[in-house]
Amino acid sequence: MSRPDDSVDSSASAAPIAVFDSGVGGLSVLRAIRDRLPNEPLLYVADSGNAPYGNRDLDFIVDRSMAIATWMVERGAKEIVVACNTATVVAVATLRERFNVPIVAVEPAIKPAAEGSQNHVIGVLATSRTLESPAVDRLRRQYAANTEIVLQPCPGLVEEIEQGRIDSAETTALLERYLAAPLAAGADHLVLGCTHYVFLRERIREMVGPGITLVDSGDAVARQTARRLPYAAPTGSAREEFYTTGDVREATALVSSLWGAPVHVHALPSTV
Ligand code: DGL
Repeated sequence: MSRPDDSVDSSASAAPIAVFDSGVGGLSVLRAIRDRLPNEPLLYVADSGNAPYGNRDLDFIVDRSMAIATWMVERGAKEIVVACNTATVVAVATLRERFNVPIVAVEPAIKPAAEGSQNHVIGVLATSRTLESPAVDRLRRQYAANTEIVLQPCPGLVEEIEQGRIDSAETTALLERYLAAPLAAGADHLVLGCTHYVFLRERIREMVGPGITLVDSGDAVARQTARRLPYAAPTGSAREEFYTTGDVREATALVSSLWGAPVHVHALPSTV
């Protein structure tokens, strides 16, 4: 049986690192990858037409992850980065079975938070799907056995960020609600366990003050992406290409704002 990665073409020297998320959240990971690998071509897919994944059943998330990764491999991707904690915990094992290209995935930064905590109390903000997963239980047993962990699901936040409502009253009200339990428990580290929430870092910082450390996995994923890179791109290969399953005009405005530079977002083929 032919495997999708057999189709990598001869122009592989300029092959991209391909990054996907349920929506725009993974741009926070893409930024960390760009900072670490300034010369690599990057391809980003936001599955915003299907976000949030957190409300979807498991088969749907696996199917979407498989369809997007298949398209990426057909486009010659030399490495795939799952920039979505929810897709990681649900689908990364299936992706790794199916494809030969290196697959790097994000998961909540429980290890550095537990290691850094003075109080031995940390909070983890993520989707319910992520928090309920065996992966989080494994991280907890492996790295945080002596740490109290307040697991805080945050329904509604991904939707706000997908609409670009970073500073809205609704977002602030949701954050107030979701920060209450970890702060009441005395957490001195908060894990941003959903790539979307990284775009709320400044808002959260204003709300919790300077004494609490906010931890995300962007740089760890970028380091791992660099380690697993099959080969470096030739000098002058830097570029970013953006695709969405959502509305192209809205995505172009939102991605440009979150990326911090004007970009054009293309429609992902409807067959994906
Ligand atoms: N950025 C995704 C994550 O890291 C959001 C998940 C969702 O769409 O619910 O989990």
